[in-house]
Amino acid sequence: MSKNKSKRGPGCAKFLARRRCKRIIYRQSRLCPAGCIGKIFCPFLISMANTILIGMQWGDEGKGKIIDVLTAKSDIVVRSQGGNNAGHTVFHRGVKYVLHLIPSGILRRGKMCVIGNGVVIDPVALVAEVDGLRQLGIKIDKKLLISDCAHLVLPYHRILDEQRELRRGRIGTTKRGIGPAYGDKAARTGLRMSDLMQPIVFSKKLQAKIIENNRILQALGAKSISFREVNESYLAAGEKLRPYVANTVVYLHRAMERGKKILFEGAQGTFLDIDHGTYPYVTSSNTTAGGACTGTGVPPHRMDRVVGVMKAYSTRVGDGALPTEDAHLAQMLHNLGREFGATTGRKRRCGWFDAVASRYAGMINGIDEIAITNLDGLDHVDPIRVCVAYRLYGKHLDVPPCDATQLANCEPVYEEVSGWNTSIHAVRKFSQLPAAARKYVRYISELTGGKLSMVSVGPARGETIVLSRTG
Ligand code: IMP
Repeated sequence: MSKNKSKRGPGCAKFLARRRCKRIIYRQSRLCPAGCIGKIFCPFLISMANTILIGMQWGDEGKGKIIDVLTAKSDIVVRSQGGNNAGHTVFHRGVKYVLHLIPSGILRRGKMCVIGNGVVIDPVALVAEVDGLRQLGIKIDKKLLISDCAHLVLPYHRILDEQRELRRGRIGTTKRGIGPAYGDKAARTGLRMSDLMQPIVFSKKLQAKIIENNRILQALGAKSISFREVNESYLAAGEKLRPYVANTVVYLHRAMERGKKILFEGAQGTFLDIDHGTYPYVTSSNTTAGGACTGTGVPPHRMDRVVGVMKAYSTRVGDGALPTEDAHLAQMLHNLGREFGATTGRKRRCGWFDAVASRYAGMINGIDEIAITNLDGLDHVDPIRVCVAYRLYGKHLDVPPCDATQLANCEPVYEEVSGWNTSIHAVRKFSQLPAAARKYVRYISELTGGKLSMVSVGPARGETIVLSRTG
C-alpha cells in the first residue's frame, strides 16, 4: 500500500518533475505585465527568449567574447547589420578565431547561424571565411543561413571606399567597401543575394553597374574593373553559398513559433551608428538596438532584452572624436599587446571610461543588462579616471553633442577612483575581485544606468564573471 502511494503521491518522479516545472514557470512568469502568474501560457514566459547584444561605445567592446558566452543559452545567433568590416575575436580551447561575417554561434555545436537582410555581404570574403573555419575543423553545413535580401559588396565598392579615404574628409574606414555598398542600397541600385542566385540576371545587372562605376573610377584616377573577372569570381562564390541562401525572415518567425531563443549579435558600436553616432565618423548601418529589427525582420515586440557591452575604458579605431583619449593609457595598453584592431590590425586609440557616452548609449538602446569587458586592462592603473560630464565653451554637458566639431571640442570632466594594482585574470567570482575593482565596475554601471550582469577578466570563455542569470 505504502509502495503504491509513493509511486503516485508526492514522492513519485512524475509528481516531482511536475512540481519542478511549475516552480520554473512561476519564477520566470512572476514579472508578467499581464499578471498571469504561474500560468503555462504566460506570454511573458514565452517571449523571454530573444536577446539583442549591442556595443555601447565605438566598437571593439569585446562583444565576440560575450556573444560566445550568451550563445550557450541561445538556439540561433543572427547578424543584422554591417559586413566584413566587423571582427569578432573569440578564444576557444586555446585557438583564436576572428569572425567577420559569420555569427559567433558557429563555434558552438547545435547552434543555427543566420546572416540577416541588413548585412552587406562580400560573397568571395564569405566563402573564404567558411573555408577557413572548415580547415579549423568547424562544421558549417546545415548551421548557416544567409538572407536572400542581403545586399552584396562588390569590388567597385571597395575601390571607391579606398579612393574616398585618400581624399580630404576621410573617415578612417576599414576599406571593405561598406559605405559605398550601403550607399547603393539606399539609392536602390544595389545587387542582392537573390540576384546572385540567378546567374543571368546577376551578370546583366553587374555589367550595367560596372560600366557606370568604371566611369566614376576613371574620373577619380583609379584603375577600372574587369566585368569578366568579377562576374566569374562572384558567380563561383554564389554557387558555393547557394545551399545557405534562404528567406531568413520566415525561418526566424517559424523558429520563434517553436519557442527557439534568438541572440541578435550586434557589430560595431553605438557611436558608429549612422543615425546616432558621431557622424560623419560612423559606419553606414544602424549599429543600435533598432537595427536588430530592421536587419532581420523580427518585430520590436518580440525582443525581450538588450544586453550592452562596454569596455572598462574607451577605444576607437578610425578618425573622429574620442573625448577621453589619453596617450599614456594607449601606450600602456599597446605595450601589453592589447588594443589592435581585429579586422585591420590598426592600433586602437584609447581613453578613459566615458560615462556621458555610455549613459546616452543606454538611452538609445534601452540597455537592460551591462557586460563590462577588459577590466584586467586596468590591473596596474592607479588612479583610474572616469569622465562624468563634458565641458563645451564653459557649458556643462550631460549628453554628447550631435555636431562632430563640437564633440571634438568637448573637454572631459573627470573623477578619479583608486586602482587595484593586482592581476585579476584568475578571479571567477565577483566577491573575489579586489574591493577597488568591485567598486569601479559598480560605479561605471551606475553611471550608465543598467544592471551589471557580467565582467570579463580575460579573453578566454572561462575568464568571465557572471553576476546574474543571463539567458
Ligand atoms: P567602415 O565601416 O569600414 O565604413 O568604417 C567606418 C568607421 O567605423 C571607421 O572609423 C572604422 O574604423 C569603424 N569601424 C567599422 N567597423 C568596425 C568594427 O568592427 N570595430 C570598430 N570600428 C569599426
